[in-house]
Amino acid sequence: HPIPVIAIDGPTASGKGTVAQRVAEQLGFHYLDSGALYRLTALSALRHEVPLNDEHALSKLAEKLPCRFTGDQVWLANENVTNAIRAEEVGNTASKIAALPYVRRALVGLQLGFRQAPGLVADGRDMGTVIFPNASLKVFLTASVEARAERRYKQLIGKGFAANMANLLKDLRERDERDSQRAVAPLKPAEGAHILETSRMTADEAVEQVLKWYAAVK
Ligand code: C5P
Repeated sequence: HPIPVIAIDGPTASGKGTVAQRVAEQLGFHYLDSGALYRLTALSALRHEVPLNDEHALSKLAEKLPCRFTGDQVWLANENVTNAIRAEEVGNTASKIAALPYVRRALVGLQLGFRQAPGLVADGRDMGTVIFPNASLKVFLTASVEARAERRYKQLIGKGFAANMANLLKDLRERDERDSQRAVAPLKPAEGAHILETSRMTADEAVEQVLKWYAAVK
């Protein structure tokens, strides 16, 4: 494939979103936040009161998701949902419906469409394993659950959401369990992925490492 992809996968709140966005900026590449697509589907399901076990209805929602991305803003139909999709309830719901094979399948085409010149940085759980198996560079970005809970805490408070450390730790552990134990596209390092443990690393240091790895393969 002539259009390069950098796949960055990892658990919730590992900082991969920040790192992926900065790498994309540095290289002038497009950026795909695939988690946002699951969050948009979840928000849409919650709004339409679609039962979370109705896989058929949920996959229809995912297939016809009226979403748009402008810069770092996310839209569902004409509503700016940039902040709404970050709520913990939406994240938890996203993690539940992401276990449904037809929901995942319904979002494949949308994700592949982000591969546009001059290149793409894609962040998620299965970018290197399922969606872009021929990515130029695969990174598995992780951090301890404590480091991630702390980052998520600061992020939520910064955005004006309420946050509780004990609940965040519990939620992260549950979501890790769900994301890595599910039958379809479980969270795991892709074959050939570089592992980046960022518990004691700043975002800039992580960005630098990814850019070094990319310079070596491009
Ligand atoms: O990365 P983020 O926390 O925004 O993702 C929300 C949820 O969407 C995750 O908990 C995960 O279950 C799901 N997801 C996924 N595959 C992706 C991206 C996200 O299953 N590629």
